[in-house]
Amino acid sequence: MTEKNNKIYLTTPIYYVNSVAHLGHAYTTLAIDVLTRYYRELGKDVFFLTGTDEHGAKIFEAAQKAGKTPQGFCDEVSSLFKKAWGNLNIGYSYFIRTTDKNHEEKVAEFLTILKDKGFLYEGEYAGKYCVGCEKFVTEKDLVDGKCPDHKCEPQDVAEENWFFKLRQLLPKIQELIESDKILIRPENAKSEVLGVIKQGIDDISISRKNVSWGIKLPWDESQTIYVWVDALLNYWTVLQNFNKTEFWPADLHLVGRDILKFHCIMWPALLLAYYKEGAIDQLPKQIFCHGYFTIDGQKMSKTIGNVIDPNNLIKKYGIDATRYLLLTQFPFGNDGDVSLGRLDEKYNSDLASGLGNLTARVITLARKSNIKNQTSKIKIKSQKVKQAILEAKNKHNFSLALENLKIDEALGAVWELIGACDKIIDTEKPWEVTDQKSKIKNQKVIEDLLLALQEIAELLKPFMPQTAEKITGQIKTGKSEPLFPRLNF
Ligand code: MSP
Repeated sequence: MTEKNNKIYLTTPIYYVNSVAHLGHAYTTLAIDVLTRYYRELGKDVFFLTGTDEHGAKIFEAAQKAGKTPQGFCDEVSSLFKKAWGNLNIGYSYFIRTTDKNHEEKVAEFLTILKDKGFLYEGEYAGKYCVGCEKFVTEKDLVDGKCPDHKCEPQDVAEENWFFKLRQLLPKIQELIESDKILIRPENAKSEVLGVIKQGIDDISISRKNVSWGIKLPWDESQTIYVWVDALLNYWTVLQNFNKTEFWPADLHLVGRDILKFHCIMWPALLLAYYKEGAIDQLPKQIFCHGYFTIDGQKMSKTIGNVIDPNNLIKKYGIDATRYLLLTQFPFGNDGDVSLGRLDEKYNSDLASGLGNLTARVITLARKSNIKNQTSKIKIKSQKVKQAILEAKNKHNFSLALENLKIDEALGAVWELIGACDKIIDTEKPWEVTDQKSKIKNQKVIEDLLLALQEIAELLKPFMPQTAEKITGQIKTGKSEPLFPRLNF
């Protein structure tokens, strides 16, 4: 990851408030939290931005349906997002709401500059619009005349709008993506975006006449700003408003597949227009697209009734176990499936029997043999323990995996170390004392295991911060408390 004077800027999408936080939102937000904690441990200054997307027809309709004013409705749901992130121990730097006055003002300023630079013009939009996607759609986006994601027919729209000259910026964007100056990862996401650009894209409408719940265009109050333009600009307005521009541009926008194209095409285009073409140091450095997951093989949806509230998982497993389970269901970056049964199994196998049991074993062995924590003073003597730690850090390349967002692989390396320590205990049996020599040998093995456990705690800090702290505490006091009580399902 490249950086500016030790500063790193990481973002999640800002989530629509038409529904409360679910497991999909939690997945993306948690991944950025892990990276933030990882880079902060390395001494970097990280700005982690998340928030809620509150304007547009979709939110307006949801508020009406709930019998609330749009603002009252947004206040309520947005605070539930904040609460969910608090419960999941997410350490964001700032939580933006697009209804924040200072955001609205900066968005209006940004668009005024685009207009002054000649990038906006008036035109007529006649076509279809999917409110669920908040996007103008064409026939080729539809299946049997319906939006495949929202299973509804798009609205026919014919209205005067302001348009953004996207088309003329496409060759530049294509070149920047092809040369990885804007890095899109994984590779298949990059190919998907390039494929769309090569097919050709028309200029886009950036305002709406018949949507009242939005930011008014400063020079034409009969129009509100298209919700996606308003939303994408959140990444910029926050740094502007809080004098944090030294973090600009974003090192990483983490997104799901559904919103990849907005981030890889419309977003750089808006910035190129604002900062003048060629200003590549003002563009996001990386956009990473993680996979979409299903629940027990089905799309997560209100209609099916399988939407998972992260708060319920926290109640069942605890905070850190939920964080672990969520990130290890399938490789990060791939599509995958979350199976509730597998969450239970994994809790018991990896956490209760794995990490929890190893911690209890090592702490108990140390206490029984009267070995105090001297982790800062002693060096590892056993070749096997040394090897196991080196393997976790080097062979599996913990840091490189994490920096490339192979989050599950980085965790896998830690679990290999846990497995290796268990094996060392099983083969060395450091409790069997026959003579003075074996007593000394046992002592060394246990000291080494304590060091390995400390290492495990260090590596786990970004993923399971409270557990890492508890393990370090237990090493210090010599008192063993179960970390993950076995659950009977
Ligand atoms: N408001 C827009 C984003 C604007 S960003 C400038 C939006 N919001 S959303 O509430 O629909 O959130 C979409 C994002 O939530 C996805 O891109 C992804 O990060 C996350 N996920 C939602 N459902 C998901 C899954 N089933 N699986 C994985 N991630 C999911 O789009």
